[in-house]
Amino acid sequence: MSQPQLDSVRSMYDERSEQYDENKVHVRQARDYLDWAQVKEGESVLDLACGTGLVALGAKDVVGPSGYVVGVDISEGMLNVARRKAEAAGVEVLFTNHDISDLSGLEILPKGSIGFDVITCAAALILLDDPLQAVRNWSTLLRPGGRVVTDVQTKDANLVMNIFAAIAPGVGETVPWHAHRWQSQAALEQLMVDAGLTVQTVFETGTYATTHYDRAAAPDLFDQAVGKSMFKNFGREPMREKAKALFVDKFTHLAGPTGAIDEECRYWIVVATSPL
Ligand SMILES: C[S@@+](CC[C@H](N)C(=O)[O-])C[C@H]1O[C@@H](n2cnc3c(N)ncnc32)[C@H](O)[C@@H]1O
Repeated sequence: MSQPQLDSVRSMYDERSEQYDENKVHVRQARDYLDWAQVKEGESVLDLACGTGLVALGAKDVVGPSGYVVGVDISEGMLNVARRKAEAAGVEVLFTNHDISDLSGLEILPKGSIGFDVITCAAALILLDDPLQAVRNWSTLLRPGGRVVTDVQTKDANLVMNIFAAIAPGVGETVPWHAHRWQSQAALEQLMVDAGLTVQTVFETGTYATTHYDRAAAPDLFDQAVGKSMFKNFGREPMREKAKALFVDKFTHLAGPTGAIDEECRYWIVVATSPL
């Protein structure tokens, strides 16, 4: 990932860090990760793009004192929230700042082991420029037979993000998420195969949240979105009014004759293992 893009992701999440855990979808998804990854007592877990530690701290509860958990993220704001939570819970998890696209040089392997039992990367694959290169890199940190669990949102699961991605070129803006790449569950499965891993399971989750949007509320939806760190660039003058018009047009087009859209937040999940 280019440095400006990394900086933009970092500042987006630094700004959001203190409110991040208010998003109950992320909290629930992180809990589900422990089941999908089948984390067990005594295991070692590397949680990539760990954010505020939702998966990492949940994993530490399961692996217990004999287990080992590391969280890696690019946002110091998110990491600080995670560290604070670990301290309050009195548990030891190493939270470290690094770009997860390339972990070479990072000395994090469990002592006396050649790799982690489990690698998780929740709600972040979409932010990586070259996910194949990243997963290949991650797999060098897995023990033979170790598991990788990751996800992308289903293609219609995030209306606002999708609209901003679609209108970005029209206002000379870029977005750091690559939704266009993740239009099917098969794409996620193929990523693992191309990275030399064996897919154990790939599936679509149930619905984590449903949101109803009306055409009449589209201008307000734009205003609310640009008030958040993720979309604030679109709220800058002089492009703001053009961006808003494009946003409303795109919304209207997607809503069709009913003028309404029901968004269902779901994820495609893949669990894959490294060769024995
Ligand atoms: C939506 S949050 C997910 C956080 C956490 N995994 C969870 O499920 O709650 C995305 C996280 O990815 C991190 N991130 C994005 N790109 C990254 C990169 N290249 N290297 C490290 N962290 C990255 C962000 O800083 C942010 O904390």
